Amino acid sequence: MDARGRALWITNWDSNAVLCRTWQIPSANTSGNTENAAKKAATRPDPARISANVPRFKWIMGCARAQWQTAPPSPQYNCARRNPGYVRQMNFASDNTAPVAPAILEAIAEANRGYARGYGNDDWTKSVECRLAEIFERDVAVFLVPTGTAANALALAQVSPQWGVVFCHAESHIATDECGAVEFLGGGLKLVGLSGDGAKITPEILQRALAGYGGHSPHQMIPAALSITQASEAGTIYRTDEIATLCGIAHARSLAVHMDGARFANALVQLDASPAQMTWRSGVDVLSFGATKGGALAAEAVVFFDPSRAAFFGERRKHAGNLLSKHRFIAAQFQAYLEDDRWLVLARHANAMADRLAAKLAAVGLKPVWPVEANLVFVVLPRVLDAKLQAAGAD
Ligand SMILES: Cc1ncc(COP(=O)(O)O)c(C=O)c1O
Repeated sequence: MDARGRALWITNWDSNAVLCRTWQIPSANTSGNTENAAKKAATRPDPARISANVPRFKWIMGCARAQWQTAPPSPQYNCARRNPGYVRQMNFASDNTAPVAPAILEAIAEANRGYARGYGNDDWTKSVECRLAEIFERDVAVFLVPTGTAANALALAQVSPQWGVVFCHAESHIATDECGAVEFLGGGLKLVGLSGDGAKITPEILQRALAGYGGHSPHQMIPAALSITQASEAGTIYRTDEIATLCGIAHARSLAVHMDGARFANALVQLDASPAQMTWRSGVDVLSFGATKGGALAAEAVVFFDPSRAAFFGERRKHAGNLLSKHRFIAAQFQAYLEDDRWLVLARHANAMADRLAAKLAAVGLKPVWPVEANLVFVVLPRVLDAKLQAAGAD
């Protein structure tokens, strides 16, 4: 490690920082919006269920954003400001804060030698398309975009008419953290948030929601799609039979099924299922396949399992300003991510770190709120401990 704490981090690159801290915990109110807070509170786990012996607790996410901004800077913060290359060793924020995997950065540098055709007409893109067809064991239509928000919004806009309803979990990223991108790119489509423990939708809840639609044409919006997140925003995962059941219900009402796979690999390695089983074989129609949280710099793919559903999606992506001219750099990230099963290796490592963290927390009486099934750990800390951690430089 050098004086700035850098070398160790880089050589022992840790695929994803895994303890989620602060503002991204599902059920936390980050906006100060009381209506939002009330909605979120509906699915907030009962503190009594979490740990009877935590004397005073707070949701360390949500409340901490403002607090963090106003708290006096820690010595580490000052260090980071003086030395922009400094990386905190105790980072519990989210995998979004993790560095890029070195092999992926190297692949970007490698793609930077010389010239290549723009807008996806390059060899890297073709090779990623072929690789994804191999991985999913069928022909797929693939579109690379730089953000998960773009992937979700464009995918859902493609499968829903403007007068369509997209069912999702009330805690889903598309409903709470994408600033209306789905509704905007969907031209007016409506997200309907459903409840369910651990940010998972159950068949009963979906059926109940669907029962409220139909028979009031043309006044009522039309159920058009179901979106599920795998791994979920609470770090839980859907088993393949659960996915199949939800897809069956959705398809019976002619809904398309979208999977937000920002942490697809983390769920996949946990389930020990094939990518095909976890998606189209269980009924998923379109996937937002994330690489960024797993170690890329900015690389997400929209994958249509029936290529005929992707008609004019290229135009839709361009229309929304999400077609990269130097497209090879996004494709090169995917190539490196998928090469030699790197995506699975990184995900296994991240999940293992989450398991380790959860076990250590549980050992001191801080049982995670939800089952730790991927690379996310949500825990309620006593205020005193939270303050101590911050004072020690935890981020
Ligand atoms: C579950 C989930 N979906 C989608 C996204 C969106 O990704 P991006 O921030 O790249 O738009 C995130 C980001 O953290 C996420 O956690």
